[in-house]
Amino acid sequence: MSQTTPPQALPVFTDDPYTDGNLADPYPLFDRMRAAGPAVWLEKYGVPAFAGFAECREILEDYRTFISGAGVGPKNLHKEPAWRPQGILESDPPVHGPMRAAMAGVISPRGVRSLRAGFEVFAKELVDRLIEQGTFDGVTELAELFPLRVFGDAVGIPREGREENLLPHGAMNFSAFGPDDERSRSFFEKGAGTHEWVMANCARESLAPDGMGAQIWAAADRGEITADQAALLVRAMLSAGLDTTVFSIGNTVQALAAHPEQWAALHANPRLAKFAIDEALRFESPFQSFFRTVSTDTVFCGVPLAAGSKVLLFVGSANRDARQWGDTADEFRIDRNAGGHLAFGMGIHQCVGQPISRLEMDVLFTEMAARIRSIEPAGDPVPYLHNTLRGWRSLPLKITAA
Ligand code: HEM
Repeated sequence: MSQTTPPQALPVFTDDPYTDGNLADPYPLFDRMRAAGPAVWLEKYGVPAFAGFAECREILEDYRTFISGAGVGPKNLHKEPAWRPQGILESDPPVHGPMRAAMAGVISPRGVRSLRAGFEVFAKELVDRLIEQGTFDGVTELAELFPLRVFGDAVGIPREGREENLLPHGAMNFSAFGPDDERSRSFFEKGAGTHEWVMANCARESLAPDGMGAQIWAAADRGEITADQAALLVRAMLSAGLDTTVFSIGNTVQALAAHPEQWAALHANPRLAKFAIDEALRFESPFQSFFRTVSTDTVFCGVPLAAGSKVLLFVGSANRDARQWGDTADEFRIDRNAGGHLAFGMGIHQCVGQPISRLEMDVLFTEMAARIRSIEPAGDPVPYLHNTLRGWRSLPLKITAA
């Protein structure tokens, strides 16, 4: 990916984190990587990989040494073209600042508060339906449905075409942050045509006048960002905001179904929903891994890194690091203080969309917690194998109403 020989004294790993087996259960490999030292050399990809909490956090916070503008995937976009124009995520200061300010202005905790009532109406309708059914698929009938409706409405895009376009588009987009292999290419094939649909719906004239997309365009009218940046920011909402939340809802419901005592605690006190969500984000992080590019020759944690080379960060592993989370790091416990996890990243690129995905999940899980007494698996869950996203393709579930 960037270098051909490991920096001095780095443990060499021949393991491939992107095989079916390691994607289905990455934690044994993550344990070995963390135990081997601050970084390991992934021979197959020719890149140093960081899997510990302290190291990943420090890299994310040091945006001057570990830049995003050369891409957060394996390609160095200063040397090779990107598959699409680079947006906020793959930019550095000073380009990053105005885009970040425009987005944060629209998606602040205060800005999204007015959306709560509408989200609650749909959450109630959805939980009514699931209780009536008794058994359902936690992915297609819950985790996908909820954000497709409420998040799509909040951005202000047409309802028609969302499911067929946004889900394959997200899977394709997130594939570019991992290796260019057969799996990644198949997500690109499935996503063919969806980028055009997304870009057409980022245009000012396609967006509802009262949605978050239109508010981004208003920042362009005020001269705070350019028209091109406005379109890229609406694109960022649609490409970064849906799959991540879908997987997050699926991972949370699966963790709760697999730990009945945790559901019982949540049912007894639905106000714990916020804590359950953070713990699930830590326990099964939806966006598992991504890259940075080294801007200048440096030595980090004793590892010499050359300017222009890539480093790979496994935040999904950092969020299981016992040095940060103690001996219970591999346990799902909603009474844990999981704040500070890296599932939303850290530093200047920390997820700007988190207030809205947190609102979506808080509304949904508060409604479910209050009205569902028990939730349990009704069949084998089917994992969704993707190079950078972690989640489920199918979750057969059975519920009992309160
Ligand atoms: C649970 C759901 C979500 C997860 C787990 C998640 C995860 C992340 C992570 C890890 C990053 C940092 C990546 C990096 O440092 O390179 C990030 C950045 C970002 N996310 Fe999210 N995200 C979620 C929801 C959303 C939503 C709902 C939106 C849009 C409304 C969104 C838009 C963005 C954008 C635009 C960035 C780039 C911010 C910047 O570069 O300043 N995300 N997200």
